[in-house]
Order: sequence, then structure tokens, then C-alpha cells
Amino acid sequence: MSPSDSSPIWRPFTQHALQKDAILVTRGEGAWLETADGRRILDAISSWWVITHGHRHPRIVQAIKDQADRLDQLIFAGFTHEPAESLARRLVAMTPAGLDHLFYSDSGSTSVEVAIKMALGFFRNRGEPRARVLALEHGYHGDTIGAMSTGARSVFNAAYEPLLFDVTRIPFPRAGAEQATLDALEAACSKGDAAAFVVEPLVLGAGGMLVYGAETLREMRRICAAHDVLFVADEVMTGFGRTGTLFACEQAGIVPDIACYAKGLTGGSLPLAVTMCKAEIFDAHYSTDRARAFFHSSSFTANPIACAAALANLDIWESEDVRGRIARLCAMQEERLARFARSNRFADVRRIGTIAALDLRVNDSGYLATIGPALHDFFVSRGLLLRPLGNTIYVLPPYCVEANELDAVYDAIEEAADRFA
Ligand SMILES: Cc1ncc(COP(=O)(O)O)c(C=O)c1O
Repeated sequence: MSPSDSSPIWRPFTQHALQKDAILVTRGEGAWLETADGRRILDAISSWWVITHGHRHPRIVQAIKDQADRLDQLIFAGFTHEPAESLARRLVAMTPAGLDHLFYSDSGSTSVEVAIKMALGFFRNRGEPRARVLALEHGYHGDTIGAMSTGARSVFNAAYEPLLFDVTRIPFPRAGAEQATLDALEAACSKGDAAAFVVEPLVLGAGGMLVYGAETLREMRRICAAHDVLFVADEVMTGFGRTGTLFACEQAGIVPDIACYAKGLTGGSLPLAVTMCKAEIFDAHYSTDRARAFFHSSSFTANPIACAAALANLDIWESEDVRGRIARLCAMQEERLARFARSNRFADVRRIGTIAALDLRVNDSGYLATIGPALHDFFVSRGLLLRPLGNTIYVLPPYCVEANELDAVYDAIEEAADRFA
């Protein structure tokens, strides 16, 4: 039996009148999902970009079990626990040098909210009247109010527009038009009222897997530094290997002032996020005056089981050949994309690290295009979980995916082009 209209659940990004049935999944292993009706589905988008090493990596599962046996949850103000302390120390050591403090939360959206609040708190505590947020056109940072405000305005948030704060949009650095982006950023920073520039490094995910170069990222960071605008790297999707390196910022050789990590932090097993920042941002809140504290919390901040899962994830990064697996996946993606680059049925065939994307040439484009759900249904019928963004098909698999499994994905994409383009 699969959940249908009889289910009380209101699912994310779902128009229930059009999509009545959700697929009931009973098990996950590696890159695969198993359904209640006996099907196997290849998870080619890592269950919304979170699963890195594969579903149910044994070390992560074991760490979760062990921690659940010891301490399940703890108030995190005035109390602490070893998994959170150890994870914090290890994250400080492995993230770009200079991100010396971190704040725990539980989703990518909240990590961005925290980043924005850190930036505004920093300037307020320093007595500088800066509160404007700058953000890249087509960006996506989550669905809470601050994250939505910072992200692109679209059908996703049109109903909530009256609640969203005004943000200065910097044009996306299209290939060949990067200078326009840098000029716009320079102009926005020069006004003196900007607190922070929030940016997805190297690739804008939900905006359509839009890729730009490390050189532009480096230049954007330089401009912010020159004007004391805090540079916030939203690595919620890019973090933990997706772009080929542990963090996307590494490829530009930059250290952000604030960085957000979530999804792959626990290998995708449990919800946990961190917002990391430079010492000066923490220091601006450090005072005997309680009014200068950082006012943010959530009940499950630094949940011990989630922290234990994240520690197991870091162990996997340190002791297994994750980088080798990622390098092989990058090469496999590149190889399979090659045949589409010459196809006139696809446009903008692109890859950044382990992520591949291509746009099916159809008249119908944009998120609401019916082609998106039609493609999704077609892929599921072929035993594949792909969830195109309108006519943009992307492949973002866990790093354990095998060559023949990827072949099946690309064969189905070819077939989809025969059918839909
Ligand atoms: C770049 C980026 N930031 C933030 C988010 C929001 O993360 P979450 O869905 O965990 O709230 C996402 C989610 O896809 C994302 O891709």
C-alpha cells in the first residue's frame, strides 16, 4: 500500500491534487532504495543532495546506535557533551583556516538564518549601522523567512513576499559576463550599508545547477574583504565533496568570514548543521553584557546522536579513500556527459565535481513546466530517482555509485530525450 490522498501528510514542494501517491520506501542501502512493492530505485540525487557515502554506511549506523545507548538529547546552553566538543574541534581543524568558532543548528535553512544573524549582530555590537544583505541572482538558501529573503524571488515564495526583507541582487556570473557581476558587487559594497554577501560557491543548486568559475568566486571574496562586507559561503549543498573537493571554497583558495554546512555533514544520515565563523565575529558578541550575546537557539541544537553521526562521517573521510571515489565519480560523469555535449537535444551540458547537469531542449522551461514532473515519473518508471528542475536534468549521486549504475542513468536520459524533446 502506498500513501495517497488518505494520508494526512502534507509533503514538501508537492501539489497533492496532481501527485497523489508517494512511493513507500522501506530500506536504503548504498545508492539504492527498496520500495514496499518490491522495486529497487537508484538514488541518483542522493535523496535531495544529502547522502554522500551511500545510504546506511555501517560506521555511521554503528555510531548512531552507540550514541543512542548513551545520551539521546541534551539542552545545549550551560551543558555540553563529548560528540559536540569533539566534532567542533575537528571541524575547525578541517575547514578553511580561520573559521574558529561554530554554532550548531539542524538544517541548511537555519544555518543560513544563523549566518545572517551573526553578520547583523557583529555590526550592531560594533556600533556600525550595516544591515543590508547582498545575494547572488538565482540563489537558493532555504525556506525559512531570512533564507527565503536571501534567495531568488519566484513562485516558491511569491505568497510570502510581504514578509521578506529587501536584498540587493548581484547578477549571476554567466560565462563571459563575469565582469558585470564583479562591477555590481563592487558598487553594492561601496555604498557602505552592506553587512554580508551570501553566496553558493561554484554552483547554484536549486537555481538550476548553474556553474561559475573559481576565479570569479575568488574575486567576489576579494571585493567583499576590501569593503569589510562579510562573505558568507553557503556550502550546504557543495560541502563534503560534491564539487570535487571537500569544500567548494578550497578551489578558489578563499576563506569565507562565515560558512554554512549541513546536508553531507552527517553523511546525510541525520539532520545537523553548523555555521562557522571567524574569531572577530564571535569576539564582537563576547562581553560581560548579556545584551550582546548571540540570540539564537533551537531545541535540538547539537543533538548528540546527530553529532556522533557527523563524527563517524569525518572518520570515513579520514580513513577511507573518499577522495579517490570522488575523483572516479567525477571522471565517470565527465565521460558520460561527453555524448550529450554534441547532442542538439540538450543545451548547457555542464559538470562541477560530482554534479552533472544538462538542459533538455523543450519549449516548456522553468520550475513549473510540466516537463519536470513528467520526466521524474518517466525516470522512476525506469527505476531511477531523478528530480529535474523544470527541463534541467541533473545527476548528483552518492559517491559509492558504480559505473554500470551511472550508465543506466544516462541511458534513461537519452531515452527521455527521445520521448520528450
Ligand atoms: C545551497 C543551499 N542552502 C540552503 C539549503 C536549505 O537546506 P535545508 O533544506 O536543509 O533547510 C539548501 C537546500 O537544498 C541549499 O541547496
